Amino acid sequence: MQTVTSSPEATEALAAGLAEHLSAGDVVAVSGELGAGKTTFVRGAARALGVTGPVSSPTFTIGHRYEAPVPVAHLDLYRIAGLDPEEWGDLEPYFDGTIAFVEWPEHGGDWLPAARAVVTLKHVDESHRSVRIDCDPGL
Ligand SMILES: Nc1ncnc2c1ncn2[C@@H]1O[C@H](COP(=O)(O)OP(=O)(O)O)[C@@H](O)[C@H]1O
Ligand SMILES: [Mg+2]
Repeated sequence: MQTVTSSPEATEALAAGLAEHLSAGDVVAVSGELGAGKTTFVRGAARALGVTGPVSSPTFTIGHRYEAPVPVAHLDLYRIAGLDPEEWGDLEPYFDGTIAFVEWPEHGGDWLPAARAVVTLKHVDESHRSVRIDCDPGL
């Protein structure tokens, strides 16, 4: 599906809708340039999955793991330039038993588990973003 949201709250609500269909082990790739709304999208999904604390971009660390009925992982691979086996070893635990959201999935190359859903965000103007969600059949 593809739509245009007119506020961060609308993007969060869309993400909450996707979250309803997710379960442990699912990976969601979230693509788009800086400021496109990737973290906003992940925040909406994380809230809907029961995460109560702040959800912010994992800028100085590669990832966050939030406690929730099904734990939620939030990775940002912006600073990664091609993973090697050792780096993948550091990342792998984030995917273990979680619902995992990955910003800049392109930087993960072939290491990342297959995404259940691929979200692509684009700037339209200051308050509008186009949001495209491509789901695995069955989701
Ligand atoms: N429709 C919209 N959807 C999502 N974010 C929006 C929207 N309109 C404005 N924004 C703003 O754009 C910025 C998106 O930031 P963020 O989610 O951190 O982006 P990214 O993680 O892609 O760099 C936030 O300041 C947010 O308030
Ligand atoms: Mg971000």
